[in-house]
Amino acid sequence: MTRRIAWLNEKGGSGKSTSALNLSANLASRFGQRVLLIDVDHQANITAVLTHGQTAKKTLTDVFLSDVPVEQAIFKTRILNLDLLPADSALADVNVAMADTGNRLGLGRELRLKRALAPIEKNYDFVIVDTGPQRTLLNINVLNYVDEVFVPIDPGYWSIMGVQHLEKLVEQIRLHMEHDTLHIGGVLLTKVQKTNVAREVEQQVREYFGEQVFRTAIPLNVKVEEAHSRGISVLDYSPDSAGAVAYLEFTKEVLFHAADTENRLG
Ligand SMILES: Nc1ncnc2c1ncn2[C@@H]1O[C@H](COP(=O)(O)OP(=O)(O)O)[C@@H](O)[C@H]1O
Ligand SMILES: [Mg+2]
Repeated sequence: MTRRIAWLNEKGGSGKSTSALNLSANLASRFGQRVLLIDVDHQANITAVLTHGQTAKKTLTDVFLSDVPVEQAIFKTRILNLDLLPADSALADVNVAMADTGNRLGLGRELRLKRALAPIEKNYDFVIVDTGPQRTLLNINVLNYVDEVFVPIDPGYWSIMGVQHLEKLVEQIRLHMEHDTLHIGGVLLTKVQKTNVAREVEQQVREYFGEQVFRTAIPLNVKVEEAHSRGISVLDYSPDSAGAVAYLEFTKEVLFHAADTENRLG
C-alpha cells in the first residue's frame, strides 16, 4: 500500500522542504522505495534543487489549470527511484482560481489533487508532499489526499502554538471532509541547537505530543543547507555529518512505523 505523507507547518522556515527532500531521497536511494515527491509550494524550492535549475516541461500548475495528465508532469530526478511532481510560481494562481466558485476550478475544489493522482499512485511506495506555509486551498487539497501529516518543529518559543492550530485543522478535515484516516503521523524536531531555549522547547514538545515525536532530532548543521546547492541529499553530500546521520536515523524510524502499522493491521 502506498503511504501518503504531507509535511506541514504554517510557520515558514521550520524545515518542511529540507525534511521532505532528505526523507524522500533516503527512502528512494538507500532503502529501494519507489518515491514520488510532490512540490505544492509556489516558491518551488524542492523543484529548483532536484531539477538542477532546469525548467520542468510541465508542472503541477498545468495539471490543475490545463488538465494535463499527471503522468506528463512527472520529472525523473537523478536520484535512484525518486520522481518529482514539480511546482512553479504560477501555482499561486491555482489558489486564486479555486477560490472563485464561479470558476471551472471552483467545482470539487477540495479534492482535485486526490483525483489527479489516482492514476499513478499505485506506482509508488511513498508519496511525499511538501507544502507552503500559508493556509490555502492547495493545502486543503493536500490534507484531503494524504493520511499522515508530519510536522517539523524548529524549537523556538512560539513553535508549539503553531502546531496546536494545525491539530485543529486536521480535526476539521477529518470531520467535515469525512477523511477518517487523516492524522498527525509524527512531529520532527529540526534545526536543533545546543541552547537552553532549544532544550526547554524540546522537552515541552515531547511532553505535549508524547509518542508522536520522532526519537531522532535533526541538529542545525551547515552541511544540510550546503547539500541543497548541489541538488543532493545531505547523506550523499556529507555522509558522516551530524545532519546526514540524523536524517538517516529518522528515515529508519519512518520505515519501522510502517512495519508496526502493517503488523497491527495484519
Ligand atoms: N538541519 C538544518 N541545519 C541547517 N540548516 C537547515 C537545516 N534544516 C533546514 N535548514 C535551512 O533552513 C532554511 C529553512 O528550511 P526549509 O526546509 O526551507 O523550511 P520550510 O520549507 O519549512 O520553509 C533553509 O535555508 C534550509 O536550508
Ligand atoms: Mg519550504
